[in-house]
Amino acid sequence: MTDLEKQLLDALEQAEQMLADAANNADVEACRIQFIGRKGVLPALMKKMGDVAPEDRPAAGKTLNRVKQGITQALESREAELRSVVADDEAIDVTLPGRRRTIGSIHPVARVMDDAVAIFRRMGFVVADGPDLETVHNNFDALNTPADHPSRDVQDTFYLEDGRLLRTQTSPVQIRVMESQPPPVRIVCPGRCYRRDTPDATHSMNFHQIEGLYVDRNVSLADLKGVLSEFARELMGPDVKVRFRPHFFPFTEPSIEYDFSCIMCEGKGCSVCKNSGWLEISGAGMVDPNVFRNVGYDPEVWTGYAFGMGIERIAMIRHAINDIRLLYENDVRFLAQF
Ligand code: DAH
Repeated sequence: MTDLEKQLLDALEQAEQMLADAANNADVEACRIQFIGRKGVLPALMKKMGDVAPEDRPAAGKTLNRVKQGITQALESREAELRSVVADDEAIDVTLPGRRRTIGSIHPVARVMDDAVAIFRRMGFVVADGPDLETVHNNFDALNTPADHPSRDVQDTFYLEDGRLLRTQTSPVQIRVMESQPPPVRIVCPGRCYRRDTPDATHSMNFHQIEGLYVDRNVSLADLKGVLSEFARELMGPDVKVRFRPHFFPFTEPSIEYDFSCIMCEGKGCSVCKNSGWLEISGAGMVDPNVFRNVGYDPEVWTGYAFGMGIERIAMIRHAINDIRLLYENDVRFLAQF
């Protein structure tokens, strides 16, 4: 064996050793450069072929090829090995705990609103809509509200510079609907309302109501009581009791207030119902003939009832929420409970 062949075989052994120690692709690449790169060990040894005696050349040539192939293969197989090690590291660890996907829930105010709308629709009411920005006419005048009524005060109502206002109730939608169509009417109007209240546990400047209006021939207070009683049972369950008390609203005559028996104490008296056993839910009454006149309906022919209730209040009762502000803080720890 010639010196050259010995040097070639040494080079192969060294390359194999270097690759066995290679920890990453950069080490493999360094080995490639050192042995088969342009200025590497193998090209340098190849140049020495000219010095080999002619009779030794075929054997030396074979050895050169074998060494070159051997190094190339060793480089490739080490590269492949390193790839599979990395893949193992990146593989899924099935022992890790799963990732919790948080699912949103329906806001309690939206849920009560959806439920209320669904119940009234089943009874034949149609949903009507009106804008949050209203005219004084629709929000007060046409609803028979006297010029000196305290609710009109700037202390209580947000007025715009152009004379319009943010509606204080959903009742103006009654006016919009009656002014735009002849009777009969059977609508509910869910929506936002605004009042210039100082926020506290039971007051918010922004809240929701659902309004109802039924106009037809021979509508009576008994019809109103029947619809509201059925609504109470559908919303709160079959055991809820309802109570009607005389009250006053400018747009209804007679006017009533409507209470649920307290769901917390079942009417025995507790802090939620302030020991009365009853929770005030809604205002209602028979549409005042003046309202009919204001929208061009003949009060000698048409009769009707109306009601309007606060959605936040029902949500608070339903879920025993003791502060209305919790409904607007968007704290997920609160919202995730529903
Ligand atoms: N709009 C009244 C309020 O915000 C509630 C109300 C009472 C609506 C009687 C009505 C009604 O339609 O007939 O306090």
